[in-house]
Amino acid sequence: LNYGVNRERRYILQVLFNGLRRLEYRGYDSAGICIDDSSSPSPSPSLLPSPSSSVNGCPPLVFRQEGNIESLVKSVYEEVAETELNLEESFSIHAGIAHTRWATHGEPAPRNSHPQTSGAGNEFLVVHNGVITNYEVLKETLIRHGFTFESETDTEVIPKLAKFVFDKANEEEGDQPVTFSQVVVEVMRHLEGAYALIFKSQHYPNELIACKRGSPLLLGVKELNEDLNNGPALHDDKFLSKNGHPKELFLSSDANAIVEHTKKVLMIEDGEVVHLKDGAVSILKFDNAKGRNGGTYARPASVQRALSILEMEVEQINKGNYEHYMQKEIHEQPESLTTTMRGRLIRGGSCKAKSVLLGGLKDHLKTIRRSRRIVFIGCGTSYNAALAARPILEELSDLPVTMEIASDLVDRQAPIYREDTAVFVSQSGETADTLQALEYASENGALCVGITNTVGSAIARKTHCGVHINAGAEIGVASTKAYTSQIVVMAMLALAIGGDTISTQARREAIIDGLCDLPNKVREVLKLDQEMKVLAKQLIAEQSLLVFGRGYNYATALEGALKVKEVALMHSEGILAGEMKHGPLALVDENLPILVIATRDACFSKQQSVIQQLHARKGRLIVMCSKGDAASIFPGGSCRVIEVPQVEDCLQPVINIVPLQLLAYHLTVLRGYNVDQPRNLAKSVTTQ
Ligand code: G6P
Repeated sequence: LNYGVNRERRYILQVLFNGLRRLEYRGYDSAGICIDDSSSPSPSPSLLPSPSSSVNGCPPLVFRQEGNIESLVKSVYEEVAETELNLEESFSIHAGIAHTRWATHGEPAPRNSHPQTSGAGNEFLVVHNGVITNYEVLKETLIRHGFTFESETDTEVIPKLAKFVFDKANEEEGDQPVTFSQVVVEVMRHLEGAYALIFKSQHYPNELIACKRGSPLLLGVKELNEDLNNGPALHDDKFLSKNGHPKELFLSSDANAIVEHTKKVLMIEDGEVVHLKDGAVSILKFDNAKGRNGGTYARPASVQRALSILEMEVEQINKGNYEHYMQKEIHEQPESLTTTMRGRLIRGGSCKAKSVLLGGLKDHLKTIRRSRRIVFIGCGTSYNAALAARPILEELSDLPVTMEIASDLVDRQAPIYREDTAVFVSQSGETADTLQALEYASENGALCVGITNTVGSAIARKTHCGVHINAGAEIGVASTKAYTSQIVVMAMLALAIGGDTISTQARREAIIDGLCDLPNKVREVLKLDQEMKVLAKQLIAEQSLLVFGRGYNYATALEGALKVKEVALMHSEGILAGEMKHGPLALVDENLPILVIATRDACFSKQQSVIQQLHARKGRLIVMCSKGDAASIFPGGSCRVIEVPQVEDCLQPVINIVPLQLLAYHLTVLRGYNVDQPRNLAKSVTTQ
């Protein structure tokens, strides 16, 4: 929403499209946009405040398109040209909304794209991130009241419910018109599931309402006459004043869409209703209380909070000189790992790092050490990162460490106790399954620790304590740099839990030295880029790739296979080498490529034996080994070898995953698929 400054329609479209481009990695099968029509009332700032809620505006313009953002952009400009819509027309107040979708209910199609509308005339429009679980019941009720539905989405019930509430309230209230927030609060009372919503309405021009439960939402404030970082806080009267500075106000489910405009943000919390009107913001907390007349509307409390400043830079969300985000993120791992460790490795007198300081955990380490077990919970790559760190955690903490895939933990309602430490690992900090597991563990009284890359995310807020991995914004859907930073944070967690135990001191110091040198070693392994491209060329037409690992590198096998599967769209399976004889061996023949991870650690000789057995069955082998081992690793003949620098065993997964990330990247590009937006996948899965 922009207020008090003249902005042309062209500019407004640009802001909305760019915002969508920044969010595209979260969903990209269809998109939509809604802007004000020319004849919407647009009073000049000198006339404000306007009695806008009593004025019925012109129906907003809605454009929806299947496909990516650029298809939407193209179709909007085509329609603009056809209808001779004036791009130079200027608005002193404008409220626009836009959405990029990742289909959950209903195939990608214009009718299923957002904004979803209340019907002909676009009286109420809604963009939604999340899932409404009781939409079928609501839909049936609305159909009984004469509504007809055009989409298969769960979202469509929301604008229709808003219209129903609005019409009903106006019938009942007579000359006391219902306000936009009253309509939304009433709608919220009927919604079950997870959502972040933005409402726009023809009946409330120049206003937007946003609310959330479960899904992320933040507000960005750009004061056009002020130094960006020294503007007033939200609780200042000046900020709330309707006659304040010209402003642009942003609502988004992700800071990426906002950071190029402003760094001043407010994380919206569950149950809050944000009302943007004529450049002013007010926030109400909806607490399910019964409202006036014994229950039509809740009477929410007003919320006042200071704005926070985003720490991210716009450059972080640009591709720089790289062709793809995934490529950039793989290559920036030496830097992201350095940032992850910055200020956390404490050096001793001899200038050697001696201990680890994790500020977000220091008050909880005693409780963690006293716990009955540590349970790691995550999904996808984050789960794999925890699996990679598990052995060192077991070793240094001397506690049982168990692993849970978040959805599976919730499905089983597995036992979690007060004496447990539950560690939630999530790049985005918003994954719905992980969040649900967090709620479950929290209800069961466990100490909940968060490991996320997103400051202010739901997991960061809802855990008792935690560590940010500080890897910088990760845009590529397939996680790369977050994975290595997560492993490093969990290795540091192991060191912190290990404390100053004498018996493990030498081991801890060796790991700390290894951590200090890790960015250099990653720089070294990145030099395999071209070699991995050559390998990718050889594998381009394959149907499948098996990856064998064990011990510290079982996780590497799983994660390497996941990368190949998700971006190169090639079947790939990570196999625990110890299980080889219990099934996978049956697949081995001279055609199927098999990658075996056999770098130096306690499992090395066992992996050598695995290589021999696979060779005996004529397996088509690719072996990853430590530098210098190439000649000896495969005495029986020649095979393709990937030599990687050797580091401390527990840090080896950070090195070993890099060639596999590169392989997946090149395979994808060579096979002609979209690396950053793999088919059917989204970066942040905020629905279950
Ligand atoms: C999705 C993404 C994966 C990610 C997983 C967990 O599936 O595509 O890359 O590993 O979610 O996400 P999180 O943000 O919780 O780490």
